[in-house]
Amino acid sequence: MTLRLQTPTADARAQDPALWWRHAAVYEVYPRSFADGNGDGIGDLAGVRAHLDYLQQLGIDAIWFTPWYASPLADGGYDVADYREIHPSFGTLSDAEELIREAAARGIRTIIDIVPNHISSLHPWFQEALAAPAGSAARERFWFRPGKGENGEEMPTRWPNNFAGDSWTRTVNPDGTPGEWYLHLFAPEQPDLNWNHPDVRAEFESVLRFWFDRGVAGIRIDSAALLVKDPQLPEIPQDPAPGQHPNLDRDELHDIYRSWRRIADEYSARDGQQRILVGEVWLADIQRFAMFLRSDEMHTAFNFDFMTRPWDASELRASIQETLDVHAQVGAPPTWVLSNHDVTRPVTRLGRADTAFAFQRKRFDTPVDLELGSRRARAAAVLAATLPGVMYLYQGEELGLPEVEDIPLDRLDDPMHFRSGGTDPGRDGCRVPLPWTAEGASFGFSPAGASEPWLPQPEGWGGYSIERAQQDPESTLALYRRLLAARRELADEPFEWLASSADTIAYRRGRTTVLVNFSAESIPLPEGEIVAVSSRLAGRCLPPDAAVWLTAPEATAPQAGISPLPTSLSTKL
Ligand code: NOJ
Ligand code: CA
Repeated sequence: MTLRLQTPTADARAQDPALWWRHAAVYEVYPRSFADGNGDGIGDLAGVRAHLDYLQQLGIDAIWFTPWYASPLADGGYDVADYREIHPSFGTLSDAEELIREAAARGIRTIIDIVPNHISSLHPWFQEALAAPAGSAARERFWFRPGKGENGEEMPTRWPNNFAGDSWTRTVNPDGTPGEWYLHLFAPEQPDLNWNHPDVRAEFESVLRFWFDRGVAGIRIDSAALLVKDPQLPEIPQDPAPGQHPNLDRDELHDIYRSWRRIADEYSARDGQQRILVGEVWLADIQRFAMFLRSDEMHTAFNFDFMTRPWDASELRASIQETLDVHAQVGAPPTWVLSNHDVTRPVTRLGRADTAFAFQRKRFDTPVDLELGSRRARAAAVLAATLPGVMYLYQGEELGLPEVEDIPLDRLDDPMHFRSGGTDPGRDGCRVPLPWTAEGASFGFSPAGASEPWLPQPEGWGGYSIERAQQDPESTLALYRRLLAARRELADEPFEWLASSADTIAYRRGRTTVLVNFSAESIPLPEGEIVAVSSRLAGRCLPPDAAVWLTAPEATAPQAGISPLPTSLSTKL
């Protein structure tokens, strides 16, 4: 299993600063859980700085940091109190600047998370609004409204909440009487901003500049399809016309992202290093999704369609084809995402009877076969690494970490759990502090003698540790390293489906052939030199729930057992 050397052309492409974002491997760091540098049990920027070697050796091109700002952490930092300060538990602004520089020196770019839909209820703007009377200018930056009903006791709308429960909270007047209501599409600690207000637009443009001035290469835009609301605040119609839903995917959003793109482009033009926007755009309609990726809007957006599909050849084939089609229409690179800090870890999800992901379907005590799940997650990694575009991976994915499903209830932290009335386990299970060493009180997450990690790690966590994985040539970490190194060679190679049986997926990119086996039987391998394989082979056969990446001796040589589809059915990007 020798790795092929990079060709000069591919290498040159991969190095082109103008193109890095079109085929990057981006690693998501959830700072609270990555590594604790100062021993208080909470991950921090010093912890990340101490492990940059690890990330460099993994072969990533960029880190996306989930919010690292001053915040009461009512929603893990997605409740920002100051967009220009670092949370004191994580470090200081100069630590962040240092980290951005040190990462850049290793060829790793920094993407930060901007949360524009809502702010923390402790942000000075909201505190000012609460202190001001109904109808005051300070309240205009939010959605304050009188209630309906005789005494204003009914919420202004019945809009559903993204975390379950109500989307409005009633304020209390200085004399103790009930006051106006304010809108929050997430927790009450996250009041929604009014994006029709010029202060809001100006403030976020200034925040973008603040971070671009500090060397960040990209902005991940939180809840990007939610910002704009219909100012009339109507109830949600049965079947809203595209762009007309009262609080989702409204047409006016595009102007906001055009203005953000102009700022990113202005910085890119200064030194030729591309600054990029990546959107968190959860939309069922993939055509509407692609509108955010037009050439004067975001550069990329997370591909949640791919991430949420079940482990099934035809489902994934359809998702890949649709993804390639809509991205080709707008000239944007697709992204391939298997996990993030909000969803069930793939090893667990793919080991269940229901392998699709949906927030609404998360429940405690769902049976899982972790051995099966790990095999599938490794195969999925081969898929994600070899499809054209950007690959996102979430810390711990490269270790094959499972979801931790037995965190004691009194240690859970996620508002999604609490607001569901305790039925939804929430997202803490994918946020458990990383195991760095096989032994030790916190498996190397904190220095010796430190406080307990902020979320407890399960017994046996050290078996998944980076230390162990580094010693095992067949570990998931070894597979990811191989994939990330080899995928540089793929850069812009065109994609072409290969005809194969219904329960397999096969495609070609230049001299690369990828074959994924979803069936219950082993299948013969096509010809070619193996670059990476997700499970141990049985002779020259690919076992069930496995994937292989091969390089053909000749670019045009037909592959045994599989043949190219007619061009009309293939997508070339
Ligand atoms: C999406 C983030 O990924 C998630 O963690 C957060 O709770 C919501 N947006 C609200 O900001
Ligand atoms: Ca710490």
